[in-house]
Amino acid sequence: MATTTPNGAAATAPPATEPEGRYPFGIPFGWFQVAWSHELERGQVLPRYYFGRHLVLWRDEEGVAHLNDAFCPHLGAHLGHGGSVIGTDLACPFHGWRFCGDGTNTAIPYSERTNARATIGSYPLVELGDHFLYAWFHPHGDEPHWPLHEPEELHDPAFTDWSTRHFSVAAATQELGENAVDGPHFRYVHNTEIVPEIQSYDTEGHVASMRSIQRFPTPRGVVDGRIDVDNHGPGMGITRFSGIVDTFLIGAAIPVDATRCEVRFSFKVRRLDDGDATSGVGKAFISEVCKQLEEDRPIWENKAHLTRPALADTDPPFLKFRKWYAQFYADAPDTTSAVWTPPPPTDGQPVYLPPEATASRRHRPDDVG
Ligand code: FES
Ligand SMILES: [Fe+2]
Repeated sequence: MATTTPNGAAATAPPATEPEGRYPFGIPFGWFQVAWSHELERGQVLPRYYFGRHLVLWRDEEGVAHLNDAFCPHLGAHLGHGGSVIGTDLACPFHGWRFCGDGTNTAIPYSERTNARATIGSYPLVELGDHFLYAWFHPHGDEPHWPLHEPEELHDPAFTDWSTRHFSVAAATQELGENAVDGPHFRYVHNTEIVPEIQSYDTEGHVASMRSIQRFPTPRGVVDGRIDVDNHGPGMGITRFSGIVDTFLIGAAIPVDATRCEVRFSFKVRRLDDGDATSGVGKAFISEVCKQLEEDRPIWENKAHLTRPALADTDPPFLKFRKWYAQFYADAPDTTSAVWTPPPPTDGQPVYLPPEATASRRHRPDDVG
């Protein structure tokens, strides 16, 4: 959007700085990990906030997990704060109305009848490998556009059990996803001498696949390895590292809202003959990947999103990644600005006062006797 200054010159409108205007895009649709299975026991009810929505995650007494909108249609109580499970129903803490997983009102304890209009929104939920709870989110309520991918390593006994890590990041999931194709940043952000060499980056429908060669520096010299990444929509990134030790990683980003997300890492390491070595090498590798996330964080949280970045001819396929990712937005992006920045800082930034300002405060003319 261009405005006209008093002297008639065109000026670019200042970039959007409101939190909700930090990015030109909204919340993507797809399958997103809302929990690990063990976090939700039979009969447990948890309040959650994802996709810019208040939600309730619960598991009925038959063991089936459900994700619903949080507010009771009767008088608006949050079902995740004090709601309870009765059989296959979720009961509201306020007046005891009950709902089943599809959101239908199944009982009103002080009435013979139910209220057919009183429904709560529900989200398709899949329990994957007894370890992951993935929910389908679409801002307009579309049914899943693709089935949830089930990686073959999930049940492979050649791998260890899962090791998991959980982070929250004040940036959109797309910004984190872009990291996957960004080989050059390794040298500057992660201080690695040798950066991954991308062999191919292909997209087909909701899947984007990157194949790369990575030479890992180790105390015993450089080891040739691979990093192969398959993104199944915006919420499931599968990375297979090989070279030092075969490591299988499910990286799951989930939007908290349009400007924040959580990331869950679930690792499995291929067992070596020596159990101690497996756990030692695995732990070192996992802590390196998590360290890298912490190194990326200040970049993601403070960067602007440029809709037309200035690129080098040798840059990786950033625009191909963005074109692939754009399919997951149900609504067209905001095109009123080319530069989208974080909101102004509200704390943690020292306010600089020049010495003369401090001095003049101390010696205001009024003070002079
Ligand atoms: S608000 Fe839920 S039963 Fe009344
Ligand atoms: Fe990174």
